[in-house]
Amino acid sequence: MKVLVIGGGGREHALAWKLAGSPRVQRVYVAPGNGGTARNGDLQNLPITDPAALADFAEHEKVGLTVVGPEAPLAAGVVDVFRARKLRIFGPTKAAAQLESSKAFAKDFMQRHGIPTALYATFHEPAAAHAHVDKVGAPVVIKADGLAAGKGVVVAMSLVEAHEAIDFMLVDNTLGVQHNLGGARVVIEEFMPGEEASFIVVSDGRQVVALATSQDHKRIGEGDVGPNTGGMGAYSPAPVVTPNVHAKVMQDIVMPTIVGMSADGAPFTGFLYAGLMIDGAGNPRVVEFNARLGDPEAQVLLMRLKSDLVDLLMHATDGTLDQVELQWDRRVALGVVMAAAGYPAAPRKGDVITGLPADTDEAVVFHAGTALLDGKLQVTGGRVLCVTALGDSVKLAQQHALQALSGIHFDGAQYRRDIGHRAIKR
Ligand code: AMP
Ligand code: GLY
Repeated sequence: MKVLVIGGGGREHALAWKLAGSPRVQRVYVAPGNGGTARNGDLQNLPITDPAALADFAEHEKVGLTVVGPEAPLAAGVVDVFRARKLRIFGPTKAAAQLESSKAFAKDFMQRHGIPTALYATFHEPAAAHAHVDKVGAPVVIKADGLAAGKGVVVAMSLVEAHEAIDFMLVDNTLGVQHNLGGARVVIEEFMPGEEASFIVVSDGRQVVALATSQDHKRIGEGDVGPNTGGMGAYSPAPVVTPNVHAKVMQDIVMPTIVGMSADGAPFTGFLYAGLMIDGAGNPRVVEFNARLGDPEAQVLLMRLKSDLVDLLMHATDGTLDQVELQWDRRVALGVVMAAAGYPAAPRKGDVITGLPADTDEAVVFHAGTALLDGKLQVTGGRVLCVTALGDSVKLAQQHALQALSGIHFDGAQYRRDIGHRAIKR
């Protein structure tokens, strides 16, 4: 079978790598791909991003399965385009992807279906927003509505910070966020204390199969300081998700979401990612939904997945997920992201990458912002590489990843040496 992966980041490199390992797969196309997928002989990059052109390609080349990685093509309706042409594709429709593409949609949905999340209110008038934070006090969370790649969120520990964030998002609108309803809007949320985890399931619209748990590290700096990023590293499994927490997440969050989306006429098919905050008593609440695999969570999850990904996704697109049981490597997988100089504010492009180790069964370098130009591997985006390794403990997986990373060089590279620290202290 030929398969097509849409996207060009680290998550898509990991998806393509895993799909290529399936005995059922003859060829994997990645559109547009990156420098890592270009270097891999099992994969072939395609310079196509337009949904209709991708569907033309899939039809012409008799692609048996298409998998969508990032949120942008989902929000643009690529799944709807493929389905209208009877082409098999794994991902949510445009309507279902609103769980991620609009924070206001997701919040209203959760409230309507009794899914635990932070209290919130939406504002477009700066004066009303300022008055609201004065009333609720700090800490409080200010979010720009619309896709902002995780960067449109300020967790304000003081009222001064909260007022500044409102001005920044509503008055200056420096983020250039795509606002869904014309003007700039902010969501002001109750601060939720606790520890975060990523809980991702595969859904066929009715039934789900949970993937292993994982934890991301969103801040740029060691010790979780500095600005939010798309994610500086991840590991799996996440011990904060105990069997008891797992059961609560399935019962109180995942199943009500799947049942609710279906009842609302937009059944959710695809990877459903619940970003959770788990409080000291083990009660999970939703921080956000994503309509896709996480990045860098995908890299660590796919490294641990022993089952055939093609089988899983064929069952998901056939509506037969009840026939699936997944096998996981019992070891820990841990990925360390190497980011470009200047990331996240202003990533620098063009630095040349050298010293990549050969991939092994236990350590793989997944590429994100790279391209192969004139035979040289160059930096083209904020998150450049995710060096992912297995180990018998979080500490050993961390050491293994850092060791695999130690020979890699590009000017200004930024990475964290403390990925997994919450599980190491435990
Ligand atoms: P989001 O883009 O909504 O995932 O938010 C980015 C990050 O901000 C999350 O990963 C959390 O670390 C933090 N955050 C968002 N909302 C809240 C909240 N209500 N309470 C505490 N932390 C939050
Ligand atoms: N790593 C967080 C995300 O993919 O949204």
